[in-house]
Amino acid sequence: MATMEIDGRRVAFDSGDTVLAVARKNGIAIPTLCHHPGLASYGGCRLCVVDVTRPEWEGWRRLVTACEYAAEAGLVVVTNSERVVRARRTVVDLLLARCPSTPFVVELARTLGLSETSFAPRDEPDDCILCGLCVRVCAAVGADAIGSAGRGVDKQVGPPYAPPNYDRPPGLAPAADCVGCLCCAHICPTGHIRFTDDGAARTIWGRDFTVVRCAGCGAPLGTPAQLAHFAAKSGLAASYFERCDTCRKEETARAMSRVVG
Ligand code: FES
Repeated sequence: MATMEIDGRRVAFDSGDTVLAVARKNGIAIPTLCHHPGLASYGGCRLCVVDVTRPEWEGWRRLVTACEYAAEAGLVVVTNSERVVRARRTVVDLLLARCPSTPFVVELARTLGLSETSFAPRDEPDDCILCGLCVRVCAAVGADAIGSAGRGVDKQVGPPYAPPNYDRPPGLAPAADCVGCLCCAHICPTGHIRFTDDGAARTIWGRDFTVVRCAGCGAPLGTPAQLAHFAAKSGLAASYFERCDTCRKEETARAMSRVVG
């Protein structure tokens, strides 16, 4: 098996691994913001930067994003060099200017020894750190109902064609394609994406949904649009989504016990 070096340790890796994956498999911590193991890497936040070099580079090194950089035989990675820490502090310093009172960001800054930003804080801060997780999970699992718009400090996440002053969900423009699956809200690290759900009704992105219940136990399942979307996307029969995971497992166990007698 091919090997590389991380922080002085020789570690093996599998073809297709990223530096981040190899580090995590070996218990070596690299902080991340925009990375999620269930989604393709995006390289947006730059928090996971590490120093890489190779023996034949004769001392030349470069900073790369560990979540995107492919593991290679002979690669030498340093996860905590002075310039790595400096780069991460700059990333978090900028984040703190964008979200000065967001607990997640304040705590992240604290871990890097920052208590306040050295940049001008945003005039009207919100909790969106622009990690892009909500947009990517909506594209991968949901109905591709939201995206990012604008640039620089004005960049924001929301439904397409939202008015320019759309900035706080549920906001002014409902997300027409949203199926109410809540994937975006659940993956958001800061709780920026607001929703309500009382088990019978759900609101998110300016849309109101009813919530249907499991045909077996009556537990809340999801919105009709969400279940229809999952059925279409997975190719499974719509009836598969009429029961919760627990009831489906019990049903399978009962069927298996009948088969084996
Ligand atoms: S976690 Fe790698 S760039 Fe965000």
